[in-house]
Amino acid sequence: MNMGKILNTQKEQTLSGPECLEVKNLWKIFGPKAKNLLKSDLRNVPKEEILEKTGCVLALRDISFRIEPGEFFVIMGLSGSGKSTLIRCILRLIEPTAGSIIIHGDDICKYDKEKLTHMRRYTTSMVFQHFGLLPHYNVLDNAAYGLKVRGMSKEERYAKAEQALETVGLKGWESYYPGSLSGGMQQRVGLARSLATDPEILIMDEPFSGLDPLIRRQMQDELVEIQEKVKKTIIFVTHDLYEALKLGSHIAIMRNGEVIQIGTPEEVFTEPADDYVRDFVQEASPAKVLTAGKIMKEPGVLLYEWQGPKAARHMINVSEHDYAFVVTKHHELLGIATFDGMNALIRKGSGSIREALVTDLPTCGPNTLLEDLFPLAPLSPYPLAVTDEKGKFLGQIRNRTIIESMIRDREEVVND
Ligand SMILES: Nc1ncnc2c1ncn2[C@@H]1O[C@H](COP(=O)(O)OP(=O)(O)O)[C@@H](O)[C@H]1O
Ligand SMILES: [Mg+2]
Repeated sequence: MNMGKILNTQKEQTLSGPECLEVKNLWKIFGPKAKNLLKSDLRNVPKEEILEKTGCVLALRDISFRIEPGEFFVIMGLSGSGKSTLIRCILRLIEPTAGSIIIHGDDICKYDKEKLTHMRRYTTSMVFQHFGLLPHYNVLDNAAYGLKVRGMSKEERYAKAEQALETVGLKGWESYYPGSLSGGMQQRVGLARSLATDPEILIMDEPFSGLDPLIRRQMQDELVEIQEKVKKTIIFVTHDLYEALKLGSHIAIMRNGEVIQIGTPEEVFTEPADDYVRDFVQEASPAKVLTAGKIMKEPGVLLYEWQGPKAARHMINVSEHDYAFVVTKHHELLGIATFDGMNALIRKGSGSIREALVTDLPTCGPNTLLEDLFPLAPLSPYPLAVTDEKGKFLGQIRNRTIIESMIRDREEVVND
């Protein structure tokens, strides 16, 4: 996605339904007379110049985007690019200098204190980098905290908190205190506290940045699973590209207080918006981004189960290879028929190719990452089959294609 497309996205925003969250032309300038500054020509000059001339810090410049319900929206950028300011503005923990934030069709910038409190208690929930747990509360009370401030009965809030703790894998830890838990477990409590309130929008500000790499990866995987289960709208902040590409359904990339690109992980990878994004993605190996679905091909020949051995042998014979994938009439993968196998069947006088199929084949899904294909490729002399969750055959990936994709994509990124 390029900058032009961002503009298009902004135009479409006027069509937004009440269900989504929308940020429109949001500005935040820290310092005196920030609003006056916005009315002057200074609004268009670089952040450094604004600071030099006025002593004001431009943290957000004219930010617009829209988040659909259930989306995993990642905000990524280097430290100081404005990510935390942006999400704090979304909750109005920081007052925006200009712009609007539409939740459920309402501009929350116009909310009074009471409405804001209600929104923060019922609609949104925040998970912080440093967990933000209460040290003198045990795990259960920490998880139930958001419900306590709602005034819910002890019984009810404990029931919900227990359920949330189970979701994050902390069943049995209810009576422990945060200090006795590892960082990863503390962050699970933080997540459980948010989930317990059943918010529509879960906001996470670098929640895994303080964790060891291994724990961090594990937490990422689990968050994806939890998201599939609870289907919240998630706004997830990170400075880590891998994390952004792994988790996000859409990624907004920030620099110097501006959103310079919004796109799917593949769009970000394949069409970096500018040098800044390109530099970022160059560090990311295609192995961590490209998926099987992206590099698979249709096989030259595809056989159907009802075809007899003679027809199968003929089709294999006229193809480039000495084998072919076989599917059912519903396109489910059955296995591979080989030239030799068909010959043997014909000699035996058998009528069904099912009797001589190679069925012990490694397969992968269309979303399997390139890096996860490497260990599968050597398991079979045949191409890797890509199937969907119902076992339907989608395409094939040859061993060489896996390597080529790595090199080609790297070169494309470098030479672009
Ligand atoms: N309270 C504040 N007063 C002045 N400047 C601030 C304040 N909070 C943040 N900033 C500045 O705003 C910019 C964005 O900061 P922040 O949103 O914390 O970035 P990030 O979360 O991406 O690291 C930075 O230049 C930072 O120094
Ligand atoms: Mg931050």
